[in-house]
Amino acid sequence: MKKITVVVLVAMFVNTLCANEDWGKTGHRVVGEVAEKHLSKKAKKGISELLGGQSLALVSNHGDDIKSDRHYDSFGPWHYVNFPFGEKYETAPKNKKGDIIQGINTCISILKDEKSSKEDKAFYLKMLVHFIGDLHQPLHIGLGEDKGGNDFQVRWFNEGTNLHTVWDSTLLNFYDMSYTELAANTDVLSKEEVAEIRKGTVLDWMYESRLLCEDIYQNTEVGEKLRYDYAYKYMDVLRSQLQNGGIRLAGLLNEIFG
Ligand code: ADE
Ligand code: ZN
Ligand code: ZN
Repeated sequence: MKKITVVVLVAMFVNTLCANEDWGKTGHRVVGEVAEKHLSKKAKKGISELLGGQSLALVSNHGDDIKSDRHYDSFGPWHYVNFPFGEKYETAPKNKKGDIIQGINTCISILKDEKSSKEDKAFYLKMLVHFIGDLHQPLHIGLGEDKGGNDFQVRWFNEGTNLHTVWDSTLLNFYDMSYTELAANTDVLSKEEVAEIRKGTVLDWMYESRLLCEDIYQNTEVGEKLRYDYAYKYMDVLRSQLQNGGIRLAGLLNEIFG
């Protein structure tokens, strides 16, 4: 094999190993698109001014796109939080480099601060859209010992993968719908139901994901071959997490731009 071919193959392999894209592009876009449908007029205007008319779906993956630029390495730990089952976030040892809760709170503070530059506001708005998505991926509220399921090997039908990837993207891709189709086919909710979902704090929403994470660990064995029944069991959970993420993101943005 030519030297250049070897270099290209190695680069492709390394890229595959590193291609950990959280919810996957589709999941983040669904959260953005659902949020868009729940925005107030004022929030729509404020967001449009910051993003130059780009949709929330379009900017929702910026948080992952910048991972390829080392300049943004410090944002890495903001995508998740890990602590042992049975412990509370508030009392568990914190990652000094930050976590998803600190990340979301920082985004909100910068967006609310009149002194923040337009450029900073636009950047942290994109990051907030992304992190509210991650907050609703149960494995992003995970365990440190297996890196949020990244080291939890399973099979998806005949292919080797890990539990984190199954929840980031494999399950959703298996559903085989575009982000616009998924956002257009969310559960039909009354005003009261939407208000109920919007209620609570970022921490409350994190604990909901945490409960799901515990359920997933109770129902999945290392090395297990996951197939149709797994998709059947969890597809509605996944769809509801994406819808809740969108509704809550809109709630935060309506408050920030209100
Ligand atoms: N890296 C380490 N833990 C992680 C988690 N819970 N989610 C995503 N990436 C991680
Ligand atoms: Zn992920
Ligand atoms: Zn992420």
